[in-house]
Amino acid sequence: MESRKHVEPTIATLEILKTSDRSVQSIGRGKDRGREANSKHRSGRDLRHFAIAAIGGFKGQLPTAAAAGETMTDLPSDRSIGDFKKRFDELKGHFHSPFDFGHGLVTRPRHVQRRFRRRLDLLQIPLDLSGKTVLDIGAWDGYFSFEFERRGAKRVLAIDSFTWDQRPEGYPRGLECFLLAREFYNSKVEHQRLDVHELSPEVVGTFDLVFCAGVLYHMRHPLLGLEKIRSVTSGQLILETHQLIPAFHEREPLIRFFPGDEAGFRLNAPAAFATRAWVADALTAAGFARHRIIYTPSFRWLKKAAALVTNRPQGGRLIAHAFVD
Ligand SMILES: C[S@@+](CC[C@H](N)C(=O)[O-])C[C@H]1O[C@@H](n2cnc3c(N)ncnc32)[C@H](O)[C@@H]1O
Repeated sequence: MESRKHVEPTIATLEILKTSDRSVQSIGRGKDRGREANSKHRSGRDLRHFAIAAIGGFKGQLPTAAAAGETMTDLPSDRSIGDFKKRFDELKGHFHSPFDFGHGLVTRPRHVQRRFRRRLDLLQIPLDLSGKTVLDIGAWDGYFSFEFERRGAKRVLAIDSFTWDQRPEGYPRGLECFLLAREFYNSKVEHQRLDVHELSPEVVGTFDLVFCAGVLYHMRHPLLGLEKIRSVTSGQLILETHQLIPAFHEREPLIRFFPGDEAGFRLNAPAAFATRAWVADALTAAGFARHRIIYTPSFRWLKKAAALVTNRPQGGRLIAHAFVD
């Protein structure tokens, strides 16, 4: 599959691009029309890159395709902002991640935007994924999938189960959010409704990078889930989960019982948080040759004290990088 990259085109960006195209066209009406017609294309691209790079820089985004001099993917020129806004308004409360579609169409408040920027830093996802295949497990609205594509991945497959299912009013409409963002970015990210427990090389193939953030503690069978993940990983797994922080026995490989999302929501059961020792042992048991825990919860001692006082284990973010060789 052809490698393609894109920057984050907002509707506002699109309008700047249209303006830049118009100014280029008016240059082309001069006497050297033939020669200008050639340079028109080149100048158009330059102006596009300039506009995108300026906007990307202003937003403090990661190095983008435009900054690297690659071609951006345009939105369809006949996009109707009114129609897009209508669909956005319907789905707004269902987005999990912060998207900025321009024209004030922002999915999450500032503190969530900050949290995701921090996550992107902490996760240490390779900046350049050129030529790589990536599996995003529990993609929800696809925030990370689109990020992988922007970083140059040649194939990105997003899978999810619970939030992509048709459900009664009040449940997340994750797939619709994913599809709206996918359309906005003119993205080629593939998607499949698939439970992590159903993963196998026969079903999805194998991937250079497997990304699994915020999903392990939703699983009914977390160790089996990790084995399934290992079976489709040909390079590296980036795993983000919640670490269990009990007052005592933190070094034991403990995990909380969790019946899975379906029953969990009904019973209001807490999620399957695991101690750091459990995550480490489980990665090994699942068949990963080596791993590094690259991030553990901050204020750990404070949390242990809270666990002691409240008689309830606390939690916090844990990030591991695991490798097949
Ligand atoms: C907390 S969200 C994480 C979203 C995103 N990965 C992130 O880190 O921001 C958990 C997602 O995992 C999905 N999920 C839960 N259990 C799953 C399973 N067994 N297989 C696949 N996806 C699952 C949920 O539907 C939900 O979209």
